[in-house]
Amino acid sequence: MHRRIIAPGALAAATLLLAIPASAASHSPGAPGIGDPYYPDYGNGGYDVSHYDLRLTYQPATDELAGTATISARTTQDLSRFNLDFLLDVGEVRVNGVKAAFTTARQHELMVTPKTPLAKGTPITVVVRYSGVPSTKSAYGFTTWHRTPDGAVAADEPEAAWWWFPSNDHPSDKATYDVSVAVPDGTQAISNGTLQSVTSKLGWTRYNWRENKPQATYLATLALGKFDITTGTSEDGVPVINAYSRDLGDNDGAARASVERTGEIVDWLSGFFGPYPFSSAGGYVPNTTTGYALETQTRVYYSPRQFANGSNTSVVVHELAHQWYGDSVSLKGWKDIWINEGFARYAQWLWSEHEGEGTAQELADHVYASHPADDPFWTVAPGDPGPDHQFDIAVYDRGALAVQALRDEIGDKAFFALLKGWPQRHAYGNASVADFQRYAEQVSGKPLAALFDTWLFQPSKPAAPAARAVSPAKTQTAPAQPRSWKRIQATNDVHSR
Ligand code: TRP
Ligand code: ZN
Repeated sequence: MHRRIIAPGALAAATLLLAIPASAASHSPGAPGIGDPYYPDYGNGGYDVSHYDLRLTYQPATDELAGTATISARTTQDLSRFNLDFLLDVGEVRVNGVKAAFTTARQHELMVTPKTPLAKGTPITVVVRYSGVPSTKSAYGFTTWHRTPDGAVAADEPEAAWWWFPSNDHPSDKATYDVSVAVPDGTQAISNGTLQSVTSKLGWTRYNWRENKPQATYLATLALGKFDITTGTSEDGVPVINAYSRDLGDNDGAARASVERTGEIVDWLSGFFGPYPFSSAGGYVPNTTTGYALETQTRVYYSPRQFANGSNTSVVVHELAHQWYGDSVSLKGWKDIWINEGFARYAQWLWSEHEGEGTAQELADHVYASHPADDPFWTVAPGDPGPDHQFDIAVYDRGALAVQALRDEIGDKAFFALLKGWPQRHAYGNASVADFQRYAEQVSGKPLAALFDTWLFQPSKPAAPAARAVSPAKTQTAPAQPRSWKRIQATNDVHSR
């Protein structure tokens, strides 16, 4: 039983409590949401997951997905019941080997009531047996399960897991993963981490993937279809696994020319961010029609449309930068999105400079000059944009402009120490914008509250930084559009579901 400290005045109440069975007195349901103000019912309260073991079978012809999820977790409160976020059809749930009652509720909640209540701090194993056709399921009127002519892809933000495995769907509860998927011979299954083994039996091929570093649920990905898988190693020794749909048509050449540079770009980014945090890197390009790319851990999802205008290393840089800023160091809450997108965009600016297509400063000047003070662009505060503006262009461009303003304020020495120190400071963990500000103040020795407030939190165009306002070149005409500008903006073109 959960131990209580009883104040003398509460004696009568305590006596009453003792008369009630322990479970009823002290165990309560886990909350249906983890407490993120942007998405109140995402994630769940009462437990913390350490590992997901998914053993699945997928049939591309019918879009049927079936199997079991074995979830290792630990309770964080006395629990009478708890929720998982999930949409497919559940056949059975077991908690510590014992059948549990379950029911589904509101949109994407699977509510599990174990036979006996669970005490705080106990390790638990939850096995969920399930099946379903993910493309027929929706919550809040949308689906993030994307069918392709030869299979399907799960990759979306801030939610993608509900369509393929039960989870505590919030970046603050990270876990390691084993993803094992059997598909008909000739089809491949792509997921995060390294490929442990591939086995074949009776017309089915099973792909066994393992991600051995903590991973947020939205960064877990699954792609099923006919892929060409390539492997290699970066010069610094990072294993690279890429996969290309065999049906990319006109985009095939540019996709390969770009994504095959993953190893080189990972090594280049290590120079700014420190050692690559994961045991493999790579990306996959399925034959989807949606336009975006997503920083799925170790195995980036790229829409073929990112390569429709030829080779595009800028998007590769963006998604690989997220492996440090977003994947290894994850957000505490979705309002902290600037740490992901501001820095991934800034990495694109550094790459532009490296490629001789415009310096970070020129790109910052261009963002600043191309949005007049009355442009609604400035009403979005990247430091807390709100759920409806979480992925607005301002989070990226104003976000990267804020990074440049920080660099101007603290100088290159402190700035680059910060850029490299942050991924070390919070490796494999979670952090907030407030944590970032504190760390930046510590590294630079400067108070930065005013700077952060102006560039990240005010819903208005900041005055030009003093150092820049006096620069004669800046006062006359708007700076020319850097050569990389259009390419960088195109990485945001389509975020349609
Ligand atoms: N995080 C992605 C990126 O910047 C972009 C993104 C935002 C996204 N919302 C999405 C991708 C929804 C897929 C689905 O690269
Ligand atoms: Zn991004």
